Amino acid sequence: MKFFTVDSYEKMSRQAANIIAAQVISKPNSVLGLATGSTPIGTYARLGELCAQGDVDFSEVTTVNLDEYVGLPVENEQSYRYFMNKNLFSLINIDLAHTFVPNGCAPDIEKEVSEYDLRIERLGGIDLQLLGIGIDGHIGFNEPNDVFVKETHEVVLDPSTITANARFFEKEEDVPKKAVTMGMQAIMQAKKILMVVNGKKKEEILKKAFFGPITPQVPASILQLHPDVTVIYTEE
Ligand code: F6R
Repeated sequence: MKFFTVDSYEKMSRQAANIIAAQVISKPNSVLGLATGSTPIGTYARLGELCAQGDVDFSEVTTVNLDEYVGLPVENEQSYRYFMNKNLFSLINIDLAHTFVPNGCAPDIEKEVSEYDLRIERLGGIDLQLLGIGIDGHIGFNEPNDVFVKETHEVVLDPSTITANARFFEKEEDVPKKAVTMGMQAIMQAKKILMVVNGKKKEEILKKAFFGPITPQVPASILQLHPDVTVIYTEE
């Protein structure tokens, strides 16, 4: 594992964007696994700049997102599809038809999740998976659990996740209680993992995840078994 501590959010974002850009430059038809949340916003903005400067070309890239709330339509500003369109896809020259976010409004969620895994498999898996980490150690929305769940699946969000994400909604009651998330198999089979983490409040869970026991109670701890993980952390 490579662990970088940098002194600002700006540096974390630039470094992460450079790693993603290098991936796309060396393999133009890369499959990128993407995350939402506040942490990667700066990374996405920097990728937009790199693309505008002509340094990276996303025209052959395919993306698969980690997760989506259940019940939020794409027009809802808090849906992850809306977030991705706004914070990344509108800034780069990607073909929107090559961008995939689980559909949390699918009439048949069981079918949706199994098709999502099939899609990732048909794409040949993920070349680089960008991750954040939840305050409870979640990656994607794989919440602390008795087991690591393999497939894409529906989850009931942990109360701490609902509280943490309430900042994006008018009130905590508006945060959906369920989400669809990629499972551990697609994440662990990604060829490279890049995790961005900011804020002193994440330091403790980061230590548990990467230096503590591997346990589904700290879902990110499974990444200790991945052969190519880069973590970029800033206290800011
Ligand atoms: C979002 C996701 C989550 C976030 C995590 C951290 O797609 O997969 O695991 O990465 O909740 O969120 P922020 O960055 O808002 O602290």
